[in-house]
Amino acid sequence: MCALPIRESLNAIPVYKPAKSSEDSGRDLTRIVRLAANENTLGFSPLAEEAVRRAAARMNWYPDPHSSRLRAKLAEKRGFLPEQLIFGNGSFELLSLAAQAYLNPGEEAIVPSPSFGWYNVATLGAGSVPVVVPLTDHKIDLSAIRERLTPRTRLIWLCNPNNPTGTYFSAGELEAFLAEVPDSVAIVVDEAYYEYADGEDYPDTVRLLERYPNLIAVRTFSKAYGLAGLRIGYGIASPGTIETLNRIRPPLNVNALAEAAAVASLEDTDFVAAVLANNREQKRFYYDSFRELGLAYLPTATNFIMVDLGTESDPVYAEMAQRGVLVRPGSDFGMPTWLRISIGKPDENRRAVELLRQALGAKV
Ligand SMILES: Cc1ncc(COP(=O)(O)O)c(C=O)c1O
Repeated sequence: MCALPIRESLNAIPVYKPAKSSEDSGRDLTRIVRLAANENTLGFSPLAEEAVRRAAARMNWYPDPHSSRLRAKLAEKRGFLPEQLIFGNGSFELLSLAAQAYLNPGEEAIVPSPSFGWYNVATLGAGSVPVVVPLTDHKIDLSAIRERLTPRTRLIWLCNPNNPTGTYFSAGELEAFLAEVPDSVAIVVDEAYYEYADGEDYPDTVRLLERYPNLIAVRTFSKAYGLAGLRIGYGIASPGTIETLNRIRPPLNVNALAEAAAVASLEDTDFVAAVLANNREQKRFYYDSFRELGLAYLPTATNFIMVDLGTESDPVYAEMAQRGVLVRPGSDFGMPTWLRISIGKPDENRRAVELLRQALGAKV
């Protein structure tokens, strides 16, 4: 036992539990189907690979501390101002920076549940109090959140679309909510699955930044762009908020390979279009398969899908893992009869459904 005293508030922090990766299983990695962490199983743009190769030739040099090339490219492509952007070592880092910037010890942050687990850790890491607000019908409940605001509320975490349920709140719902939240409360909208959310009423959060400078949108290159292993995400907020976050951003937090890959990925619109087309088609495959199996599921605006087995899902998860398909058990999210399955390539999804069918068949 180490006798070194740690900051007291850290005792409340549970060890963060990411999805099990194939590395944990000690098996032949090439034969494992990874549908547990909402990665992009189609890979990444060949332009990104070429850019990484070129950037690797210069890896003795520190990266650009301002990610200037990526900043300019993203601003140009998406119509943001360069000073509205901040880059992070994945969006995990940006979420932590937001908590550090806006939460004082003892203050409150609203954490919807179930949602992305890092909001809880980031809140506790700042010594603050997570106020847990359950979803309603598997959707983040903005009215219930409004009712839980107190003078101590400093930050609201919103995951849209929500991980793990794949549901989203609409532009109208978000705007009505923003109008009622005091502007002294930071609102972080985590849009990690933004590219997949094709609903017409999905919010254009960035358009609201001018009216609501307390808003911070967070996106990532880990999902639709397939750069999860390189670690790069970005925040979009008012220039004043970006300036605040930059004060505590570790210098050189975005490595040169990640920046180069992200710049190149933004050029390859064909790759992202193919990823989104596959996702659209394959989510239909899951809907049809689950209907055929008589299983309830949540229609999804993301690259993963939740299915209700109607019975404890841990044994099914374990059996699928044993047979080489990794998914995520709902018990990780307090939904013990559900499985979360990332949407992969057709053969991977067919294998997942086949194993699910066999596991369920064996149980009856
Ligand atoms: C909702 C959400 N936010 C943030 C992240 C972290 O992504 P990254 O740090 O790879 O950008 C994830 C990863 O799964 C996620 O699901």
